[in-house]
Amino acid sequence: ERTRDHGSLRGFVRDIADFPEDGVTYRDITPLLGDSSAFAQAVTGLVDEFSGVAVDRVVGVESRGFIFGAAVAYRIGAGFVPVRKPGKLPWAVVREEYQLEYGADKLEIHRDAIHPGERILIVDDVLATGGTARATAKLVETLGGVIAGLGFVIELDDLGGRAQLGERPVKSLLHYS
Ligand code: PRP
Ligand code: MG
Repeated sequence: ERTRDHGSLRGFVRDIADFPEDGVTYRDITPLLGDSSAFAQAVTGLVDEFSGVAVDRVVGVESRGFIFGAAVAYRIGAGFVPVRKPGKLPWAVVREEYQLEYGADKLEIHRDAIHPGERILIVDDVLATGGTARATAKLVETLGGVIAGLGFVIELDDLGGRAQLGERPVKSLLHYS
């Protein structure tokens, strides 16, 4: 197994104090997205973390999860399934409510997007409280999908998101406390 040090990506994450509210440090990934090498390294990093894991489809969470999820899906030759905020998907959906770091929201997935037994990799930019990821995992499992793993560029360790995901395999490229 290849061990990769993703630490050099840290320089492409911009810390923004007191956003979106006082006392919170926002980890801004737009410098990483805008740099061709850093973006490629992040996508390759996520792909490598799950090398050897069978994946039928990648699920990305609106909106920042679309960016990394679609790139990972392309790289591993898997289809991409969007999980979206309410009212965006045109076909029949399954809906899950979840607590966000700064409020509450709902997520939806098309009922026919995943078939029973399919192995699903969930990708998002940040694992914070885990509410988004857990709701996404529940949507996948409601449709009979099996969580092959959850991959994040950034994990905010102190917010306990990993514990929300139970035994499901979680990998993150960068950890912040
Ligand atoms: C952010 C981030 C993750 C989620 C993590 O998304 O992109 O999806 O929060 O937080 P959690 O672990 O506490 O649920 P956000 O809902 O802000 O929307 P965006 O991706 O559209 O910017
Ligand atoms: Mg998001």
